[in-house]
Amino acid sequence: MNILSPSILAADFANLGKQIQEVEAAGVQYLHIDVMDGIFVPQISFGMPVITSLRKSTDMFFDVHIMIDRPERYAAEFVDCGANMVTFHLEATDKVDETIENIRSKGAKVGISIKPGTAVSEVLPYLPKVDMVLIMTVEPGYGGQAYIPECTEKITQVRKAIEAQGLSCDVQVDGGISADNLKMVLDAGANVVVAGSAVFKNNITENVVSMLKIMGEK
Ligand code: DX5
Ligand code: ZN
Repeated sequence: MNILSPSILAADFANLGKQIQEVEAAGVQYLHIDVMDGIFVPQISFGMPVITSLRKSTDMFFDVHIMIDRPERYAAEFVDCGANMVTFHLEATDKVDETIENIRSKGAKVGISIKPGTAVSEVLPYLPKVDMVLIMTVEPGYGGQAYIPECTEKITQVRKAIEAQGLSCDVQVDGGISADNLKMVLDAGANVVVAGSAVFKNNITENVVSMLKIMGEK
């Protein structure tokens, strides 16, 4: 099954609740929530109080992408706020197993992410322990950037490794994805697709419907 996970980083925060209702009504189940700390990435986005508020307003699956230094400090707390899955960065910690366990012990799904410059081989040892691998297809930190073509090969590499080990991890892609390159990332092996600008700019419902069609989910 292919899943679209709209990133609210590109939403109009003055109308956030309304825009989330619109993506949900258009047939989306996941919501991608980008938390940035100004240290692991240059930008600061938003944090726990926002997620706690959103949790009261929707039953969507909260796919929380934490771009924060030493995620072991906060990972469990994001589950308390309402995350159904927490995805942290391999590069942000030397306590990868501890971070996985912190999330898992709270009953949430675990994702692990690598930046464009990090080799797929770095993440392979963790495949049996996680539910999802996020291959960043832009440098994390900002929405609206262009897809980095060299990342396509990494999507294929990680999908092949998952299959070779007989595992069932999801492969997520995040950054610069639109209706124009969506089929390419699916063909490469991704099955969970994040899209910020491509969903929230212009007509949300039309954007979602056309992307879900390409994904064979509408
Ligand atoms: C970037 C974030 C992305 C971002 C994607 O660091 O992780 O989730 O919102 O935005 P687009 O789809 O506009 O590239
Ligand atoms: Zn993200």
